[in-house]
Amino acid sequence: NKSVTILGIETSCDETSAAVVVNGKKELSNVISSQIDIHKRYGGVVPEVASRRHIDNILPVIEEALDKAGITIEEVDAIAVTKGPGLVGALLVGVSVAKALAFAKQKPLIGVHHIAGHIYANQLVVDLQPPYLSLIISGGHTELVKVTDHGVFEILGQTLDDAVGEAFDKVARTIELPYPGGPHIDRLAQTGQASIEFPKAMLEEGSLDFSFSGLKSAVLNYLNKSRMKNEEVNHADIAASFQKAVVDVIVAKTELAMEKMQLSRLVVAGGVAANSGIRQALLATGQQKGWQVNIPPIHYCTDNAAMIAAAAYYLYEKQEFSDMSLNATASLSL
Ligand code: KG4
Ligand code: ZN
Repeated sequence: NKSVTILGIETSCDETSAAVVVNGKKELSNVISSQIDIHKRYGGVVPEVASRRHIDNILPVIEEALDKAGITIEEVDAIAVTKGPGLVGALLVGVSVAKALAFAKQKPLIGVHHIAGHIYANQLVVDLQPPYLSLIISGGHTELVKVTDHGVFEILGQTLDDAVGEAFDKVARTIELPYPGGPHIDRLAQTGQASIEFPKAMLEEGSLDFSFSGLKSAVLNYLNKSRMKNEEVNHADIAASFQKAVVDVIVAKTELAMEKMQLSRLVVAGGVAANSGIRQALLATGQQKGWQVNIPPIHYCTDNAAMIAAAAYYLYEKQEFSDMSLNATASLSL
């Protein structure tokens, strides 16, 4: 069996990334150029700024990825790129470069769904055979997905309002933590007590959907009330209580989905999978319930191109290639 070497490109949000991965498993390089430093100033990702940065960075990042892998573009078997969802102007940079390279070098082109990438980040670490449940928690997504077969997805539940990472980032801003706030809340929560009762939106009985906007508003109300009464607020306790509410909802919904679908393997993905409270709770629940739980190491949780190249391998095997009509799509279902 010939090995398949794929160059992956990811520009859906605020990381410009390129990677070289063999057979969807072996990472030869994974270069990530983060834009957090510039977007921090604005308290969030500014789409126009992100697109310009991607344009400046994309070619050097691709060159570095090939250099680190010790190969030339001629030796690559296919070029994979995130086609959506994400910021359309940001996605377009990756898609345009991938198309140009594929055309110039006569290589197959593979458009990859960003969420499929997050799920397949796990393949870089362990060998995963479907079926399994995937919990995708990131700045833009909160989804429970049944992976029936390689590349075959069934969405069981999703957020009705804010994504979980978005809730972390918004709450962080209200307690004056820098952007992106998720890791700061995580750190602060470890020094506080989960002593404040914030609401946990479970929605109707049996629902696998999520809602985090009420929780976010409850934190804001708590802060406003305390300020009006001139009461002292403990930010660490707020962080710990907020995080606990999120963890409880996520664990409950995941448990319900695992039972409903009679699955025994859980695969976690997305930037918020870096959260220590969520990791601990899911691992502990898995142990208690007898599930196998896979959570990628933190550098594979957040956006990176190795995960895109990993997901592309299964499309390559099925010969699911894209042509020159491939386009960037801001919202795209799995
Ligand atoms: O997957 P990702 O890099 O980008 C998207 O595709 O959205 O996820 C970024 C999100 C941000 O909202 C960030 O605050 C959150 O992941 N995040 C965390 C932690 N590390 C990153 N949230 C909670 N705890 C963390 N340790
Ligand atoms: Zn992502």
